[in-house]
Amino acid sequence: MPQTLAAPGLTTGHAPFVEEARNRGELYISQPYDQYSEENHEAWRRLFARIRPRWEQYANPFFLRGVEALHLPADRIPRLSEINRRLQPLTGFQAKPVSGYVPGFLFFDCLHRREFPTTITIRDKDRMDYLPEPDIFHDVAGHVPMHTDRAFADVLVRFGDCAHTAVEMTAEIKDHGERVRRLTSIVRAMSRFFWFTVEFGLMKGPKGSTVAYGSGLLSSYGELQHAIESDEVQRYPVQLEWLINQVAEIDHYQPILFVVESFEHLFELVGELERWMRAGKLNNVAPCLPEIAEADLRSFMDAA
Ligand SMILES: [Fe+2]
Repeated sequence: MPQTLAAPGLTTGHAPFVEEARNRGELYISQPYDQYSEENHEAWRRLFARIRPRWEQYANPFFLRGVEALHLPADRIPRLSEINRRLQPLTGFQAKPVSGYVPGFLFFDCLHRREFPTTITIRDKDRMDYLPEPDIFHDVAGHVPMHTDRAFADVLVRFGDCAHTAVEMTAEIKDHGERVRRLTSIVRAMSRFFWFTVEFGLMKGPKGSTVAYGSGLLSSYGELQHAIESDEVQRYPVQLEWLINQVAEIDHYQPILFVVESFEHLFELVGELERWMRAGKLNNVAPCLPEIAEADLRSFMDAA
């Protein structure tokens, strides 16, 4: 296919289309499908073929159903328009292409509207396990199949409610320093909750097993198995007070993971998170990681 061979490519860190959009300040973009190079499709093929058997073994059944329902292709990078045609009738969710990092409030507000900010670039085919930032494999093969499940989709929407509550709870604080301090703590609590559930969550599976539903696990060939099998990982029944105070380490496999009973259970927990926020119980969570970026805080303040 000469057209594909000549394509400039949409490789993480080397994607002129995306860099130009960023330079123009455009967050929401299109997926210029013809720009994927043959190497980009090869990266997807390899990643997909490698992880598929591990999904059968370690993924939750709702995810496996989602992979089928979306007809995720094994041989090429998916077109988001095709994915969305199958996804939207199921839960109303849509994958929405973005040029890069989406600041906190905007991200959660997208979830509230049942839109999932989705990266369109893919990692270098020769560096399969190196992921300096999310790519389309993480977002579409790791996250999007979960969005076919109604109960899980409702959890994401509930996160959006929490973000709106965070804006409301901090908008009236007159002292700028105190407003920033409180917002930082609340956003840190929300980020940790999201990290240990939507990104790295485990759940009870069939016949007393433990399975993965977190997308950071479902898109990582190495960590998916490690999370379920390794003696190095401590797995605990989820507890809200622990989640929001647990330092989230990002550069290596997670040593501590939390197990939910079901997505209904998770939905209840997000509701509890919001009640705790209203009661002021997120105002002083443990410091340290994750860092809360200036852009994240600003996104919450600008929404007020
Ligand atoms: Fe993610």
